[in-house]
Amino acid sequence: MSHRATPKVELHLHLEGAAPPRLIADMAKERGINLNGVFAEDGSYAYRDFWHFLEVYEAATSVLTSPEDYQRLTRAVLAESAAQGVIYTEAFLSPDFCGGRDVGAWKEYLHAIREAAEAAERQDGITMRGIVTCIRHFGPDKARETARCAAETMGDFLTGFGIAGDEKSGQARDFDYAFDMAREAGLRLTAHAGEWRGPKGIVATLDHLKPERLGHGVRAIEDPELVDRIAAEGIVLEVCPGSNVTLGVYPDWQRHPVQLLREAGVKVTVSTDDPPFFHTTMTREFDMLADTFGWEDADFLDLNRTAMNAAFCDETTRAAKLKILEGAA
Ligand code: ADE
Ligand code: ZN
Repeated sequence: MSHRATPKVELHLHLEGAAPPRLIADMAKERGINLNGVFAEDGSYAYRDFWHFLEVYEAATSVLTSPEDYQRLTRAVLAESAAQGVIYTEAFLSPDFCGGRDVGAWKEYLHAIREAAEAAERQDGITMRGIVTCIRHFGPDKARETARCAAETMGDFLTGFGIAGDEKSGQARDFDYAFDMAREAGLRLTAHAGEWRGPKGIVATLDHLKPERLGHGVRAIEDPELVDRIAAEGIVLEVCPGSNVTLGVYPDWQRHPVQLLREAGVKVTVSTDDPPFFHTTMTREFDMLADTFGWEDADFLDLNRTAMNAAFCDETTRAAKLKILEGAA
């Protein structure tokens, strides 16, 4: 059975990573940019592994060079999310790609993204909030500049700060200054960890960056004490099973730990990460959870509630979305 009509809450979506390949190809053509190597013959994104994925991601993103481009991108991404039943989404935004971390330029990009999000809300009822993410393999100095962009624009739309990119690059403590700055500005925090590094990387991330949510976090399953800690501290996991299986973190859905983590009392949510790159949608994630682990309507309601309660939004928005979820149950 398809879960397309089931309402969904998504907390982990990279804006550029959600770009329809068609949109990127069209923009490249309009500007005469050669994107050799970015696309497979069937028009989907082509990459060999996670590290090559990061390169292709940056190459595809290089065609997005103005606030207007990001407005077009945001419109396309939110229209697709809404079509998949998503009623609330949090998107990772990158000042690195939006104006090269210049605060003035970043403000213009963010304004354009926000206008597109408001149009999508009026048209499709989908609500978006933004989380600025620094990119780990760009290093701690750029991360500070990114945190400054976030701190200068924090408010009811830009509500969070995080870190993405190559988890194997540097140590969590290298980024504590950026996270401290974001925390002091009042931003809520999430960090990618436990995707490419195991429990030690997760512990360092929790101890140094003190996020309330983890992007992925799934490799905590390799250490039962860490699973207990995550459950006891109420750390929320933004689990992206389709992404993990496509990138080879786990060989198949059956062996993905999402069910075990949930059974251990961890607050689990489910997202797509970079849907066209991983040939997935929120509908497919729900369908696969139902097919693989037998999840039913009550499980999806619980999943959505957990996500909405962990959302980086104001209480009025949270209450309104929870009401929609309860009404649909
Ligand atoms: N950037 C986009 N997708 C990512 C992922 N899955 N992990 C780390 N950085 C990313
Ligand atoms: Zn991610």
